[in-house]
Amino acid sequence: MDWEVFLTPYKQAVEELKIKFKGVRDEYEQADHHSPIEFVTGRVKPIRSILDKMKRKRISMKNLEEEMHDLAGIRVMCQFVEDINRVIELIRKRNDIEIIEERDYVTRQKESGYRSYHVVVKYPVQTIEGEKQVHVEIQIRTLAMNFWATIEHSLNYKYNKKIPINIQKRLQRAAEAASRLDEEMSEIRDEIREAQKVFQKKEEK
Ligand code: GTP
Ligand code: MG
Repeated sequence: MDWEVFLTPYKQAVEELKIKFKGVRDEYEQADHHSPIEFVTGRVKPIRSILDKMKRKRISMKNLEEEMHDLAGIRVMCQFVEDINRVIELIRKRNDIEIIEERDYVTRQKESGYRSYHVVVKYPVQTIEGEKQVHVEIQIRTLAMNFWATIEHSLNYKYNKKIPINIQKRLQRAAEAASRLDEEMSEIRDEIREAQKVFQKKEEK
């Protein structure tokens, strides 16, 4: 198995999608509008993790591309919860990206406290042998959700996926706090917008 060759189209997809989402951000910035995209990251799954997951999920080499949808991964970070839906709508409208699966862990958070909106998409990569459709997992989340997930991920790493129960409980509370932070920020934003509207109306008079 030549992993380098096998993963090349996935690497290409990640690089292209990062540029495309950054382009969306730039368009909003140029128009002086709030961008639903704050920043974007991407990665190709490390070979070690691919092998671990193949074992864990009993995926054969033959079915790898069909059954492992996160060989290529993109993360889109948003300032506000409402932005998540706007990003999903942006993705739906594009004709270079086709959504084939959605998981809403924003309205239904995971047991751990994890929140994010996941979509699996099909994305066409142009190779020297012609077009190749690859799967890409896009995770869309707020900065607060990302903060939580990053900390939880490193704790999982530290404790080898067996986080002590008291720390798990603390993490669940931290997830609630992050969720409240998202709500508070949305409310502040709404109030500022209302205030601006009133101000504009007064000026128009
Ligand atoms: P995977 O085998 O990890 O792909 O799980 P799955 O196929 O059941 O998919 P799921 O949607 O649950 O998770 C996909 C990805 O979401 C993971 O690879 C992580 O990046 C992220 N994720 C899911 N659950 C958690 C969690 O509890 N904590 C953190 N930090 N990330 C999570
Ligand atoms: Mg998955």
